[in-house]
Amino acid sequence: MRITEGLAYRIMRLKTRFPSPDSLSCAEIFETEAFRNGSLEYRQELMRKSSQWRYECEVQADALAARLPCGPERYLRDRVVLDLGCFTGGRSARWAEVHGIRELHGLDVDDVFVSAAQAFARARNLNAHYVKGFGESLPYEDVKFDTIVSLDVLEHVRDYGAVLAECWRTLKPGGHFIAVFPPYYSPCDHHLSQASAVPCLTWLFSGRTLTRAYNRILDERGPAARWYSRRSRELAAWEKSHVLNGITLGGFRRALRRNPWAVELREHVPLFDRRAGLWMPVRWVFRALANLPVVCELFTTRGTYVLRKA
Ligand SMILES: C[S@@+](CC[C@H](N)C(=O)[O-])C[C@H]1O[C@@H](n2cnc3c(N)ncnc32)[C@H](O)[C@@H]1O
Repeated sequence: MRITEGLAYRIMRLKTRFPSPDSLSCAEIFETEAFRNGSLEYRQELMRKSSQWRYECEVQADALAARLPCGPERYLRDRVVLDLGCFTGGRSARWAEVHGIRELHGLDVDDVFVSAAQAFARARNLNAHYVKGFGESLPYEDVKFDTIVSLDVLEHVRDYGAVLAECWRTLKPGGHFIAVFPPYYSPCDHHLSQASAVPCLTWLFSGRTLTRAYNRILDERGPAARWYSRRSRELAAWEKSHVLNGITLGGFRRALRRNPWAVELREHVPLFDRRAGLWMPVRWVFRALANLPVVCELFTTRGTYVLRKA
């Protein structure tokens, strides 16, 4: 055990990374002393900046459109939509403005994120309602939504089977659940990047070993790393590795069998998918790998599913 932990520590340290407390891409900025003890104005300004940053990301990357070959319009225009795991709300605010969502709802587990999302939507005069809650027990009545979207959330929930069941319950017949998530063995999504930029760590070590090595690196950084350190040193019962539940493409497909979902789109986004020119042959190879049984778990960066409640 100690030997593998030491090895994981050394490999992770081959390419270290330090997050900046000013980086809006990092959700842990809301754990800094500056935020926790800051004035109301400072706190509100940071929350606004986070929402705005997520909004701008969506303007530039158009992440939802990029994932859906036939575009997001048919799922969003004039629809009642839930952004499940909305963070500070910038993304769904953008969808509401561009795609004419009739009624936007957002849900997240964190009070700060929800307050930020509410304030941002209010400032933009959107018909939006954000609440604190868990995807595993959605605080909504049956058959409420036309569409539920969850972008990069299912890998973090305690029980993604329960989330699927709740989406089934709260969707109208014919409604859609759009789920995009990085599978556990995705090379660059090990979620240890506050400490290390070495890829493929989950291929090499168990989540418990990686988490211990991660703790050790952060311990060495001292109080400066407290804001992005784990609250509990050991993994929770639901965690396979740091903040990850271990969802795989196979596990997700098996969980789908519990309800008669119609799978309208299933795409495994491979590594290097956006590269062009001389990268094309590499792209084709990785696209093939991302569609092979079993091997797909290692070479897929995002599983994208559009599911219809039949
Ligand atoms: C990686 S962020 C993605 C945020 C947003 N969907 C986006 O794409 O910008 C994951 C989000 O899921 C939320 N989350 C984690 N567990 C959740 C749960 N059980 N139910 C709902 N949201 C959850 C987190 O608080 C966080 O805001």
